[in-house]
Amino acid sequence: MILAIETSCDDTCAAVVEAEGRRALSNVVHTQTEHARYGGVVPEVASRAHLERLDGVVEKALSDAEVSLDEVGSVAVTTRPGLIGALLVGVAAAKGLAYARKLPLVPVNHLEGHVAAAYLADPTLEPPFVALIASGGHTALYAVDEDHAMNLLGETLDDAAGEALDKGARMLGLGFPGGPAISRAALDGDRDRYEFPVGLKDRNNLDFSFSGLKTSLLYKLKEMDREQVIEELPHLAACYEAAVVEALSRKLLRAADLYDAPAVVVAGGVAANASLRGTLEEERAKAGIRLVVPPPELCTDNAAMIGAAAPQSIAIPYPEYLGLNARSV
Ligand code: KG4
Ligand code: ZN
Repeated sequence: MILAIETSCDDTCAAVVEAEGRRALSNVVHTQTEHARYGGVVPEVASRAHLERLDGVVEKALSDAEVSLDEVGSVAVTTRPGLIGALLVGVAAAKGLAYARKLPLVPVNHLEGHVAAAYLADPTLEPPFVALIASGGHTALYAVDEDHAMNLLGETLDDAAGEALDKGARMLGLGFPGGPAISRAALDGDRDRYEFPVGLKDRNNLDFSFSGLKTSLLYKLKEMDREQVIEELPHLAACYEAAVVEALSRKLLRAADLYDAPAVVVAGGVAANASLRGTLEEERAKAGIRLVVPPPELCTDNAAMIGAAAPQSIAIPYPEYLGLNARSV
């Protein structure tokens, strides 16, 4: 039984995972609402909120799983990458819990955690596969080997996909986080009304670029008055979202093709996007490959995915982890 903790950004998370990291018994996520009024995550506010809430979140993860601390065999925690102050709260808590019980501690990379969410969604999944991670801080494609090593195939040259959605939503006067806000606004929109650039669309590589898309929205908005923007909002949101979805699905399928991957995995907060999920499902059927996209609650930050990545990560035996540090990158 693995007790997992994740505090790399603005979600305070704890979970209990068993069966070699392939089944979550509980998955508690406390999303910090303090940041909404700033339109983005404020690192120091995030650290303090983690500090106040983590104990309660860990207790709830244990009680939801109906597991006592005596039954826990190891503690897993996100050590990188993320906001350094936020990470440190989780690392310190994990060290304390593990040390008090003389348990091993497993440092987990947040990005490997996002990919491991796929093992919870489909416990029969085994590498090799190609994985797309699209979150607020990262957008990258990896070839995952039989031994779970992640080899970078391509990544964004500027903004992350989630960041592009967050910034676009802000320009459109929608809320934070921007991904879900744009999706809601886009519901009755016409996806063909406006043309937005799909970055590096015809380049024969596996990289992404979202800065041109953002600039394009800015220029379109400059040409419109307030009333027009309100009237056109569903269409602008739908076309902007469609450009992000096309960029992601195009490069993921290109990677699957180039690497002859039997399966593809999509992970990270943006993988919660309904339009992306629908598009990939259609394309997957055409290409005849296996697609694993975790349910939305396992795509956005959570600790169950950190527990799922623990069996593939290197555990540090008691008490050698007291000097363990967090890293922002
Ligand atoms: O993985 P995540 O929860 O945190 C990071 O590690 O960054 O990803 C957060 C990002 C935000 O940019 C948010 O706007 C986006 O994921 N996101 C979505 C959806 N839910 C969250 N984007 C599109 N559609 C969604 N339903
Ligand atoms: Zn994340």
